Amino acid sequence: MRFSLYTAPVALVTAAALFAQPQAGVESRVEQLLARMTLEEKIGQMSQSTAMSAPISDNIKAEIRAGRWGSFLNAGSPADRAEAQRIATTESRLRIPLLFGRDVIHGYKTIFPIPLGQAASWDPGIVEQMAQQAAREASAEGIRWTFAPMMDIARDPRWGRVAESLGEDPYLSGTLAAAMVRGFQGSSLSDAASIAACAKHFAAYGAAEAGRDYNSAWIPEILLREVYLPPFRAAREAGVASFMTSFNTLNGIPATGNRFLLRQILREEWHYDGLVVSDYEAVTEMIKHGFARDAAGAAKKALAAGVDMEMVSTSYFEQLRSLVEHGAVSIGEIDGAVRNILRLKFRLGLFEQKIPAPVEVVPNASSLELAERAAAESMVLLKNEANLLPLIDAVRTVAVIGPLADSAMDQMGTWSMDARPETVETPLAAFRRLLGADRVRYAPGLRNSRDQSTDAFAAAVSAARSADAVVLFLGEESILSGEARSRAFLDLPGAQQALIDAVHATGKPVVAVIMAGRPLTFHDAAAKAGAVVYAWHPGDRGGPAIAKLLLGQYEPSGRLPITFPRTVGQVPIYYSHLNTGRAASEKELGIPMGNPANPEGYTSKYIDVDFTPEYPFGFGLSYTTLEYSAIALSSPVLETGQSITVSADIANRGTRAATETVQCYIRVVVASVAQPVRKLTSFQRVLLKPGERRTVRFTVSPKDLAFYDEHMKLVTEPGRIQVWIAPDAARGVGAEFELR
Ligand code: BGC
Repeated sequence: MRFSLYTAPVALVTAAALFAQPQAGVESRVEQLLARMTLEEKIGQMSQSTAMSAPISDNIKAEIRAGRWGSFLNAGSPADRAEAQRIATTESRLRIPLLFGRDVIHGYKTIFPIPLGQAASWDPGIVEQMAQQAAREASAEGIRWTFAPMMDIARDPRWGRVAESLGEDPYLSGTLAAAMVRGFQGSSLSDAASIAACAKHFAAYGAAEAGRDYNSAWIPEILLREVYLPPFRAAREAGVASFMTSFNTLNGIPATGNRFLLRQILREEWHYDGLVVSDYEAVTEMIKHGFARDAAGAAKKALAAGVDMEMVSTSYFEQLRSLVEHGAVSIGEIDGAVRNILRLKFRLGLFEQKIPAPVEVVPNASSLELAERAAAESMVLLKNEANLLPLIDAVRTVAVIGPLADSAMDQMGTWSMDARPETVETPLAAFRRLLGADRVRYAPGLRNSRDQSTDAFAAAVSAARSADAVVLFLGEESILSGEARSRAFLDLPGAQQALIDAVHATGKPVVAVIMAGRPLTFHDAAAKAGAVVYAWHPGDRGGPAIAKLLLGQYEPSGRLPITFPRTVGQVPIYYSHLNTGRAASEKELGIPMGNPANPEGYTSKYIDVDFTPEYPFGFGLSYTTLEYSAIALSSPVLETGQSITVSADIANRGTRAATETVQCYIRVVVASVAQPVRKLTSFQRVLLKPGERRTVRFTVSPKDLAFYDEHMKLVTEPGRIQVWIAPDAARGVGAEFELR
């Protein structure tokens, strides 16, 4: 029986262990090296560039020899990296190795589901395995640093980078971010197959106003501490080797020049001694923000805030020497930054390791098998009327329709620059392989997800007519989500709604599979489908994962890591909100307004759409029916320093096995600062055989009930606590106890 429990956000021991490892002597080596460095060499270490194109130019070679660069990102082939490293470690004066970074976001050569899809697995184990595989592949090609995980809390699906996030919830995001850090970094950073992870983007990038990328974030400190910082804290406690600042201003101060974030929180409160890198040109973008007069001002402010390494822009290289000479920047500030950089290079064992012979890594059977399992785990079954799924044997022929049925690169999602289309299996290819080509009819209907033309509908309709069932692949192609891909509308783009209408009119049963980098609004499409599966951008093996799930060879187990709105007008919508003084009730679904003589409904809702989400956080169906009952508490009172056990029975009432993600939520009913109506404190994935009933237990301790008071102190206050064991944020069985 598989049964795993994830109650503690992240073990503090991991961090301590990681930092204490064979790195003995790192500090003295850092000091000895630092003492020998010229100011130019120090500033070189603080500079990171993309400018290493293949083949490496003589100019770049000379610069590496001169110690001009400490790091390169997203640059060069394995052979270029090996050659650049050879020059740095044998021909530069101090032989300081280069650190090669890359955006290895959801796999390197083997592409796994996008992070938001990974988050839908609610499975830290598989998330860790994917990061580990990515680290193996990247490190073999000389890359020892990834700019991942991104753990920006995302509550606005208009923001294109929601695809890279781990969703809306601090606990889930922190748990999964920590799993990724463990996967990338392994048990020791100095292991040649480990890569340094990077917690990004610090901080509040996901709170971009109006969901427009790079936009300002205005977040009161209490919300920052309750919601936006905890995933970063979890990553820090998991030993994350680096942090990246974000592009946005936070309460008017750019994150890249933000002493409160980078000095007070990261260094002083969290005692962080890793490397802080800026985002891409974020240092000099502070000029455009109106926060620095010029490059010199930007360099001074970024360094003062605690940015150790400047990504791409060159204000450090061009300005720091003269700033030091004029006394505007102290050598102590420079040394502090260089220490953090060298420390990471020593921790990675870069000074000891032989330069690997350049190899080109390709996905292999086991990495692709992991990709398939992960894709299957990421899929969320949203609707399954009359048990349309799994498709039974009586369904002899299937019409595979839609712009995303056979578009290899569009199932990869954002950040797949290293993807190899030849390793992709699309859903169409997978159906043909699994069912035999003669049982599959294919008509894309639209050329891509944005296509407005209905010219190819006739072929799609005739394919539907000729089959027993239709599987319709809808959604967003890869380039519609990711950085700078904000959308003001969340509907299915192009003529996709018209396509489903046309196919539905044939009377054939329709299964809609939606591939997208964000929650979309697709109410009318879902209404016309008998079953709906949300597949995100599932990566290399999305095809077989989807086809096998639909054919019943995988059981659906994904759960939404983010609330799905009914319409973009509800955004931001998230489960962990505060109550208003006039909360609407379920009775007000359907929007009662009364009439002028007798108006009704002075509650917090909309008059043109229900106030509830289309699908709540945590939601996802199985091919069986699960029933929650018999909630029980080990005691009606929780005393400080103790814990309480909450249990409930989960029964599988159907004939198929299921992996259920059992979620535990709490609410502090009365507090000196109003608390959310629900807060996720832990979850467990539980395998239930047909007919099986299990008692699932959670431990709740005062730390789960802690919150920030108005003085930014983490406190617990005595009083009533509600607790739910639940299949999602909107349902479950509840009980109440008292915290004393
Ligand atoms: C993104 C980062 C990324 C960096 C390097 C930036 O535009 O915001 O997330 O790591 O580029 O590619």
